[in-house]
This record gives sequence, structure tokens and C-alpha cells, in this order.
Amino acid sequence: MSKYTSPLIVIVISFFFLFSCTKKQAEEPKPITPEVPGTPGASGTYATVVDPLFQTRCAGCHAPGKRAAGAWTFNGYSSVNANADKIKQVVLVSKTMPIGGTLTAAELQSLKDWFDKGMPQ
Ligand code: HEC
Repeated sequence: MSKYTSPLIVIVISFFFLFSCTKKQAEEPKPITPEVPGTPGASGTYATVVDPLFQTRCAGCHAPGKRAAGAWTFNGYSSVNANADKIKQVVLVSKTMPIGGTLTAAELQSLKDWFDKGMPQ
């Protein structure tokens, strides 16, 4: 081996690591924003998402004249809008409503999205 061979090897190996490093960084995948499941998209309105849900899951106890109408009377958009904070609390936060059942993850997500979008009618 000539006296120049081993420094040359060191230099070649150094370059190899230097470039392999640079390459790796360049190929680093961008963080992927996770898709939210159950997102109804721009069409999630009271009429399309919330009313059908509350009719089937809440009206049995909260429609006018039903047993829990005293706690909250479900009577269309304004009855939801006016009690939004209470509803968010019991359905999304404490999850105590609906009594005797649970909403699916997708239903909870669509409801949360609807509140977040400012409760479109
Ligand atoms: C099986 C009957 C039943 C169903 C179904 C039900 N609730 Fe209730 N709800 C009650 C009763 C009883 C109360 C009053 C007792 C209490 O506060 O725990 C109540 C109380 C509430 C209150 C008032 C809470 C407060 O802090 O004043 C809200 C708001 C409410 N329910 C929302 C809902 C929503 C929204 C749904 C549907 C997703 C729902 N409930 C489904 C029986 C029900």
C-alpha cells in the first residue's frame, strides 16, 4: 500500500458519509396532516347533520312534553343554538348524553365540526 492510500480512503469514506447524510435529510418525508375521520365536509349543516342526529338520539327524551324537556327542550335549530354550551358540555365533554346510549366517534366528530364551524343552519 502506498503512503497515500489510507488518507485517500479516509477522505473517500468521509465524503460517502457526508453525502449519505445530506441525501437522507433531503428524502425525509414531510409530516402528514392526519385526516379527521367522520368529517362531513362543507355540507355539514344543522339540517343535514345535527337535526337528524338529535331527532333520533335526543328527541325521545327532550322533545316538548317528553320526560327530560324540563332540562332542555329540543325544538329545532334555535333550541340547539341557544343551548350550545350546555349541549357541548354534556355530549362532547362529559359525554353524559344521550342517556342510555352513546354516539359513534363519527357522529361526535361531525357534531364537534358543526359547533366549530359556528353552527351553520
Ligand atoms: C333517555 C333519555 C335521554 C336521552 C336519550 C337524552 N337525554 Fe339529555 N337529559 C336527560 C335527562 C333525564 C336530563 C336531566 C338530568 C340530568 O341533567 O342529568 C337531561 C339533561 C340534558 C341537558 C341539560 C344538562 C344541564 O347541564 O342542564 C342537555 C343539554 C341534554 N340533556 C342534552 C341531550 C342531548 C344533546 C341528547 C342527544 C345527543 C340527549 N340529551 C339525550 C335524558 C336524556
